[in-house]
Amino acid sequence: MQAIAVFPSQKRVDLLDIPEPQLNGRTDVLLKVREVGLCGTDREISSFEYGTPPRGSDHLVLGHESLAEVVEVGREVRSLKPGDLVVAMVRRPCPHPDCRPCRGGRPDFCVTGDYTERGIKGADGFLTYYVGEDETYLVRVPHALAEVAVLVEPLTVVAKASDRTQSIFYGLPFEPGPQRGLVLGAGPIGLLGAMVLVADGFETVVYSRDSEQSKQAELVRSLGAHYVSSTSNPLESLRESSGEFDVVLEAVGFAPLMVGATQVLKPNGVVALTGVPPETATAELKVGRGLRNLVLRNEVVFGTVNAGRRDHLSAIHHLEQFMVLFPQSVRELITHRARLDEVPQMLKQKQGIKNVVEMDRAA
Ligand code: BGC
Ligand code: ZN
Repeated sequence: MQAIAVFPSQKRVDLLDIPEPQLNGRTDVLLKVREVGLCGTDREISSFEYGTPPRGSDHLVLGHESLAEVVEVGREVRSLKPGDLVVAMVRRPCPHPDCRPCRGGRPDFCVTGDYTERGIKGADGFLTYYVGEDETYLVRVPHALAEVAVLVEPLTVVAKASDRTQSIFYGLPFEPGPQRGLVLGAGPIGLLGAMVLVADGFETVVYSRDSEQSKQAELVRSLGAHYVSSTSNPLESLRESSGEFDVVLEAVGFAPLMVGATQVLKPNGVVALTGVPPETATAELKVGRGLRNLVLRNEVVFGTVNAGRRDHLSAIHHLEQFMVLFPQSVRELITHRARLDEVPQMLKQKQGIKNVVEMDRAA
């Protein structure tokens, strides 16, 4: 069967033939891949800046944002049956006996760095027709969400960030009042983050470089949130024009914006960083004021990556809520669907917001 893989040593992204998986272990599940979402991480991998093939292989099968259908289950599989829709988690635990997060089922908090990620780091991904996976790493999604369920994986990133933010607020010794949230970035993660904030009752502003007339801006307004373009409003002026925020959710990976995020924070506010800047990125920061504020205003800044089962369940609940509140806006996040053989081109040229590969799509 065909798959899309990156060959880092040959600087090539191509279709290749791989054997169909077999049901091996007793807790194994055989899956028919339905859809795979493409994101910035896939673009970085396919421009050879990120990503690692499995040990001993010269290529990495791409794809980590999956939606698949169960076709066959091993003897001891209890939670899934043929016909179920599932999303596979991305990370797999490291092998070290003393890594408490990995041993406790939360490789997203791995302390050794020896975890693998399907389609990203040391393990093949889902951009093919059939895959095998252990039951442990699969999360069932209701069929009612089928048309948008490929968004679950990217949504887990912001669901985890938002749940952590909420636990910081609930940890305060007083009831917080009505809250204001700022999202930095209007890519799929930023827009999903805006949906989470709106659904949670935040007055929400999205700040990004796209123009006020862009599809992204329109989508933000369709949620009942406000859109501010960075091209006409530098971050320094955002505070005067839009006020301060209890929560800032960063989803760009642009270092100056990441370090500047606390400038627009209210006292006791929280910044959640999800973007991954290049290692060589630099940014100027007025350290004095930033650090003073951090202390004198009880501010919290935290980073968050990947997600555990709990965050997947949270993402699924959020998606159900979105489909009640603003179904059309959710559908409009997926701007392009393509066939497997169109992936190399699609990775070179991002179109619109979320690009999705549909495995059954006819030529
Ligand atoms: C994925 C995460 C992953 C991260 C870092 C993101 O695109 O959604 O699951 O942990 O990249 O590799
Ligand atoms: Zn991704």
